[in-house]
Amino acid sequence: MLFKKKQTEEKIDRSQRILPTHVGIIMDGNGRWAKKRGLPRQAGHKVGAATFKKITRYANSIGIKNLTVYAFSTENWRRPKEEIDALMDIFYDYLIEALRDFSEENIRTIFIGDVTAFSPKLQQLIHETEEISSDKTGMRLNIAMNYGGRNEIVKAMREISQEVADGKLKPEDISSEIISDHMYTFGQPDPDLIIRPSGEYRTSNFLLWQSAYSEYVFMDEILWPDFSTEDLERALDEYSRRNRRFGGV
Ligand code: IPE
Ligand code: IPE
Ligand code: MG
Repeated sequence: MLFKKKQTEEKIDRSQRILPTHVGIIMDGNGRWAKKRGLPRQAGHKVGAATFKKITRYANSIGIKNLTVYAFSTENWRRPKEEIDALMDIFYDYLIEALRDFSEENIRTIFIGDVTAFSPKLQQLIHETEEISSDKTGMRLNIAMNYGGRNEIVKAMREISQEVADGKLKPEDISSEIISDHMYTFGQPDPDLIIRPSGEYRTSNFLLWQSAYSEYVFMDEILWPDFSTEDLERALDEYSRRNRRFGGV
């Protein structure tokens, strides 16, 4: 981890390790991965999508119960049209493949974020993917697309205000639990661990409400397309070494 005076990475016995229930991943570094190879940014997104598939399967296989991946933020619309078009094509191809290949995987997929901004054919695939996997009992995969933590809080505030206006809820009854129930992730535990590769040490608007007590692991030496199952294991080892206090002692 960062700014350690001395590297004292205590060896972790992986069979004894405490596994996080909910893991978040900010899949960052695709553009730089491509640039390093003299390729267009889209080439990085393509390899990044393959990495996503590999890591998702692996996380389910080792018993992670909830995985949330940040695929496209509410701010990513600021990118050049060419890159956005390429990303939409990659999302589309990914979902077509996922519908075919993931049918045997015991993974329940839901999308978090305002998906109404996507093309009707992409939205159709999003709904099909959610529907086809809705009876799966394994890992719950949340794919954050057109997701922003602030947007999500605004959505929650609007819904709650409406309930108050309709007389269904009293202002004094608004609690943290009620706010959580209006997040896209309602009914799921908060993320225990959030991993960000690529050397950026920020949240970039990911799970703002839910991450109040998440452990962060920033892996600066690795770009998302290169992220391996062993990198996930290293992040899980680091999580296991953390001492979570939640304000206590
Ligand atoms: C993450 O990689 C993917 C998306 C945001 C869609 P980037 O495209 O941000 O890659 P870098 O950060 O520019 O290297
Ligand atoms: C965050 O990465 C969003 C995703 C990985 C989808 P960005 O690359 O958009 O974040 P910033 O702009 O570096 O903060
Ligand atoms: Mg980035």
